[in-house]
Amino acid sequence: MRSVAFANGDHLPLLGLGTWKSAPGEVGGAVREAIRLGYRHIDGASIYGNEPEVGAAIREAIAAGEVSREELWITSKLWSNSHGRENVEPALRRTLQDLELAALDLYLIHWPVAIRPGVGFPSSAADLLPPDDARIRATWEGMEAAREAGLSRHIGVSNFSIRKLQELLRHCRIRPEVNQVELHPLLQQPDLVAFCRDEGIHLTAYSPLGSGDRPAALKAAGEPVLLENPVISAIAAEHGCSAAQVLLAWHLQRGISTIPKSVSPERLRQNLAAADLTLSPADLDRIAALDQGVRLVDGSFWLMEGSPWTLQSLDRKSTRLNSSHLVISYA
Ligand code: A2P
Repeated sequence: MRSVAFANGDHLPLLGLGTWKSAPGEVGGAVREAIRLGYRHIDGASIYGNEPEVGAAIREAIAAGEVSREELWITSKLWSNSHGRENVEPALRRTLQDLELAALDLYLIHWPVAIRPGVGFPSSAADLLPPDDARIRATWEGMEAAREAGLSRHIGVSNFSIRKLQELLRHCRIRPEVNQVELHPLLQQPDLVAFCRDEGIHLTAYSPLGSGDRPAALKAAGEPVLLENPVISAIAAEHGCSAAQVLLAWHLQRGISTIPKSVSPERLRQNLAAADLTLSPADLDRIAALDQGVRLVDGSFWLMEGSPWTLQSLDRKSTRLNSSHLVISYA
């Protein structure tokens, strides 16, 4: 499995298992099966609501001798209700307790958006705190302190734009090593990819398969189905593989890590095997031409009526969804 090496010599396997939308009751089996198949990178977050089951599955896999803790790369994310310097360590300790781990490999600020402490997912604008660069800086100080305390070997961010990264880089003591964002052929974000490459920030692509199992509230009528894209399907047919494998190989070949979610043993196997596929330069050119700026997880759930956030403060050009539409569940 290809990996990216960090300055301290740690290696992040480029293909990982995503656990967003993997329901309690099925995520544990998926983690166990993934580890048996050879996955060594598992991506989670406290807001996904399934970390205790992920943790139990990891413990069982280690106890069964299938893998050692050192061979696994475990990522989690600070939820938006725990921004602020003092809130990071308690949130991270809860995640560690849920995952039954002494330390994470990577801890990310999930969104640059803060909500009121105690709120799980915002149900009205009153739950949201206004954009505030100083708060993000304070949260990052908490992340730095957590890394120095040995609670996570690496720290980074998620859903950060170039502007938000620039602001963070101006003030940080420890640089973010990873930015996890939505990335796929319909949303290629070439400026962000180039910026992160130049700054030595590794990118992880979420929703690599188009997250077709998102809650209906996060979907728009008539949105394109990534797995059914005709160009991707044609390339897959030429290679005798699946569309999912083409989508995943595209990231791996560009040195970008990616975290497809599956709870199906057959699809877990298929996704891991994408690492063996080599796309030709002509394939890559055809995929490059697919960029349409289609954002599937567009952050409109932060933009309900009366929200102190705007598309501009989110650094988003447009949103597909009706922003008066309240999203009640993220997981
Ligand atoms: P399932 O969990 O039943 O396998 P994303 O990673 O972009 O969030 O997409 C996850 C969605 O894609 C899930 O609905 C998942 O279903 C499905 N999926 C995962 N792997 C494949 C695959 N190889 N082919 C088709 N669908 C897949």
